[in-house]
Amino acid sequence: MKDPVTEEKITPFLETKWAGRHLVCFVETDSTNVRIRQLSREGAPHGTVAVAGAQTEGRGRRGRIWQSPPDSGIYMSILLRPDIDPDRAPMLTLAAACSTAGALDRWKKGASVQIKWPNDIIINGRKVAGILTEMNVRGGRIDYVAVGIGINVNRREFPEELQDKATSLYLEWGCPVQRAYVVASVINHLEADYETFMKTRDLSGLKEFYEGILVNKDRDVVICREQGSYPAHALGITKTGELLVRRAEGDLEAVFAGEVSVRGVYGYV
Ligand code: BTN
Repeated sequence: MKDPVTEEKITPFLETKWAGRHLVCFVETDSTNVRIRQLSREGAPHGTVAVAGAQTEGRGRRGRIWQSPPDSGIYMSILLRPDIDPDRAPMLTLAAACSTAGALDRWKKGASVQIKWPNDIIINGRKVAGILTEMNVRGGRIDYVAVGIGINVNRREFPEELQDKATSLYLEWGCPVQRAYVVASVINHLEADYETFMKTRDLSGLKEFYEGILVNKDRDVVICREQGSYPAHALGITKTGELLVRRAEGDLEAVFAGEVSVRGVYGYV
């Protein structure tokens, strides 16, 4: 389905003061996170958004590729210049997960939109969107943060190896979705959630929403570290975004996202 994501189509739906007010749209680019790095070097303001119709070098977490075919997905990144310590920046990924889930939930048809800790967006147990946050630090302070969001929108099929893990809005909702509306809605939510985050410089103001849609909450999970895996029971998150779990021997542990991945006992969630 040809449905270009252009400034003219997105801007009428923006309800923001600063987010997306500088909007750069590409028919195709390497990676919108790379475009944000470039735009930041050129002095682009806080809240600048890069959106692409396709990516040739889409990047996922843990060095993975993010498949970014034309016309069927949303590939967008926002430039943030928060005055926070660099070690707080990973929390912005969880804030962006709230924004993405909040935006998609608006069009909910049937199954709820959920979050798999820390930042996979899930519908019906399959991943519909992912978030990759990258930052540059200069002199110990944040120069910029690029929060990149990829959403499978009108994709009709996935390669066999992804079929039980990945889904799209089209496959879940049974109808094509206009990407410009979704982009604008994500930007609207990002501005509001960022402002909530900056009031306390942590996730205190977003924790209740996040935990309300956290697919892992009150479930048995497997914590996967480089050194090995162990079972635990997920209780929620801390206000700094760690997953709070109870280990089999009864100890509580706050698990930091940079060090581990989490899966369900029976599979992906
Ligand atoms: C993940 O692995 O779950 C994160 C995927 C993030 C993909 C988005 S698409 C827009 C931005 N540009 C990229 O190259 N990656 C992010």
